[in-house]
Parts: sequence; C-alpha cells; structure tokens
Amino acid sequence: MTPQDASKRSAEICRAAPVVPVLVVDDAAHARPLAEALVAGGLPALEVTLRTPAALDVIRAMADVPGGIVGAGTLLTPGDVKAAKAAGAKFGVSPGATDRLLQACEDEDLPLLPGTATASEAMRLLERGYTVQKFFPAEANGGAPALKAIGAPIPQVSFCPTGGVSLKNAREYLGLANTLCVGGSWVAPKDKVMAGDWAGIEALAREAAALPR
Ligand code: 3PG
Repeated sequence: MTPQDASKRSAEICRAAPVVPVLVVDDAAHARPLAEALVAGGLPALEVTLRTPAALDVIRAMADVPGGIVGAGTLLTPGDVKAAKAAGAKFGVSPGATDRLLQACEDEDLPLLPGTATASEAMRLLERGYTVQKFFPAEANGGAPALKAIGAPIPQVSFCPTGGVSLKNAREYLGLANTLCVGGSWVAPKDKVMAGDWAGIEALAREAAALPR
C-alpha cells in the first residue's frame, strides 16, 4: 500500500466520528462488549493499544463487531505491524514514525496514522506521502494553538491530535481546519471497563460522538 493510499484510508477512518477511542484493555473478555458499547454510542473507529498482553486477543475479538473499524495502536516495530495485521487490525497508529515502521505498514497493506510532534517530522512524513498524521502528545506539545500554528505553513497535512485530549478541550482541536478527529482514552475509563459498565461507556461515546467539528 502506498503512503498516499494509506492516508486516504486514514482520512476516511478519521472522518467516521469526531473521536477515536484509545483503548488499553487488560482482559480479552471485555473486548466485545466494550466495542459494541462504543459503536452503539456512535464511535466506530477503535484504537486498541498494544500495551497489554491481551491486546492481540482483544483485536481478534473486536474485529467482527458489526459497524466497528478496529485498529492497533502503539505500533513500534515491524513485528508489531505483522502481529496486528494478523489479528485483524484494519489500521495502525504509532506514537512516532521510523523508516522501518513505515516500510512495514506499506509492505503489510496496513493503513498507518503515523505520529508526529514537530514541523520537521510532519514535513518528513509529507515527503514520503503521508498527508494524514497523528499529533502526539497533543497537549504536552502545546495543544490546539501549536497544531494551528503548524497548519499555517503546512496546510496539506491533516491531523488526529491525541494525548491529553478530553471532552473539555476536544472542541478546541475539532474547530481547527487541519484536524479531522481527536483520539482519547476518556471514553473508556479503566474503572468503567473493569466494572463492565457498558451502558456508562455507551453514554460517554454518545457524548463524544455529538462533539461538533
Ligand atoms: C495514549 O498514549 O494513551 C494516547 O495518546 C491517549 O492519551 P490520553 O489517555 O491522554 O487520551
């Protein structure tokens, strides 16, 4: 898959809803009801971070939830890319970008939302053909004002800011011309997941899905 095709697909995924839930799931038994609650609340694109031993099983369990688009986050190595793809991930997300990681995603036909934090990184990815990128960690890097400032000289890149984004500040990002959606973990808080409070998570998803952009 070319970087251009990857970005085209990433843009479609980002446009599906204002928020991509960032999920850290410890127990694969939670995967299906969690995905069903988020999709029912209006958030179809889900990022399952490869940060727990259960993550690949979680992706497998979520992959056939109707209406869902399940991706793998925290991709760091070509091995992560292969494993995520084999588990059924439809897209990938990474905190940063290395040549090896980009090549692996292109070879495996996994659309990647590559992480970037600076203008130089955004330019390097743009040179390779990635016009849709993740701005990470968004709040720590200056938040919406910083992303707006990057957009002035580099308007051809669109972003999914992630990291420190919440219901409180999401509107600031979603109002920017270069923001397609935001990523955030607030829609699936650990206590609600552990308690199996799927109705509560669906309510959080509904609130996030109603954010204007
Ligand atoms: C992460 O690295 O976990 C994501 O960027 C999500 O960040 P958040 O927990 O601040 O939403």
